[in-house]
Amino acid sequence: MKVAIEKLDHYGRGITKINDKICFVENALKEEVVEIKIIKETKKYILASTTKIIKESKDRVAPSCPYSNLCGGCHLAHLSFEKENEFKESKVTEIIKKFTKIKDITIKNIIYDEPYHYRNKITLHSKDGKVGLYEQKSNTIIPIKSCLLVNKKLNEEIKNVLPSKEDIILRIGNKTEEILNQNNKKESITSYIGNKKYQVSAQSFFQVNSTITEKLYDEIKSIIQERNSKNVLDLYCGTGTIGIYVSDIVNNVLGIESCKEAVMDANTNKELNKATNCTYKLGKVEDLTKEITNKYDTAIIDPPRSGLHKKVVEKLLEITPKNLIYVSCDPITLARDLNLLKEKYEVEYIRPYNMFPRTYHVECVCVLNKR
Ligand SMILES: C[S@@+](CC[C@H](N)C(=O)[O-])C[C@H]1O[C@@H](n2cnc3c(N)ncnc32)[C@H](O)[C@@H]1O
Repeated sequence: MKVAIEKLDHYGRGITKINDKICFVENALKEEVVEIKIIKETKKYILASTTKIIKESKDRVAPSCPYSNLCGGCHLAHLSFEKENEFKESKVTEIIKKFTKIKDITIKNIIYDEPYHYRNKITLHSKDGKVGLYEQKSNTIIPIKSCLLVNKKLNEEIKNVLPSKEDIILRIGNKTEEILNQNNKKESITSYIGNKKYQVSAQSFFQVNSTITEKLYDEIKSIIQERNSKNVLDLYCGTGTIGIYVSDIVNNVLGIESCKEAVMDANTNKELNKATNCTYKLGKVEDLTKEITNKYDTAIIDPPRSGLHKKVVEKLLEITPKNLIYVSCDPITLARDLNLLKEKYEVEYIRPYNMFPRTYHVECVCVLNKR
């Protein structure tokens, strides 16, 4: 069957209609005409794959990865990087417009850097003596020699990884090039963002793209500086990265984080950076709302994909710090939370960051001011 693609959905799939039913077409771009094979049909939608491109988009590029037909990691490998950035800007704009009832939110230009070799971490899977990545939509292992998204030096380690019963996480420190792997049994590495030094344990969260992270943290720091914020909450603080990044220009930072190893790292990072004005509490933010008091003028909020717990929203609406800086890796939950916060806060702007090039994922920073 031949179809014309109207646009891309938020997962980078082409959209068309077949007998008025929406059809998502994998590996198809806007304005292309493609032949498809139907993979699945439900009452609401059809899922299809592209079998032949009849009219090709000028934005199509040949994926430069030997595993691109097998591994589903790079959802946008066939789209030029320039158009990928446009796609992510429009994706954020559309989601915010569709899911918030707030009018005229400013979406600033996306910040991006290199499309490849940006990842400081790779998780390898292992089964039946094989080590590699999962084939898309399955648990079959594709043994890989390297991954185009991964830091070049870290890629060299992949060949040394031995089969294991558990997933194998490899990490490399930004600037230090310290490596966390199976063989050296290191428990943590040191990494830099800007001139701040961070210890990162295997279990702790650390942004995967250090170049974009530095740009993101610089934006947060300049917001804090402009607003003259002095008492800062760093909610979902991980290894204390953001709070420590801004610690030189504020009086106090309180970080809250639920991962024990990350809080231990945060306390070490406080020492490493002589950030004596930072304090860390271990626990879920929703269980520690008593720590969130009206002493704070700014809250930096960087939750996981699920966004904010209802109790956290309630507490923020109660103590109303002057500014909220919401860092989000999922624009849909960001939109949901903005709807809840809008009673007391207005959105100044949202800026997308291309933290995860060649995938459909996008990071955003959203600046909110108390009404
Ligand atoms: C997106 S990461 C941000 C970490 C840090 N701000 C950074 O930039 O490196 C989210 C963090 O929230 C933590 N987390 C998840 N659920 C939580 C909760 N309910 N309360 C506190 N921390 C939580 C995770 O362990 C993770 O470290």
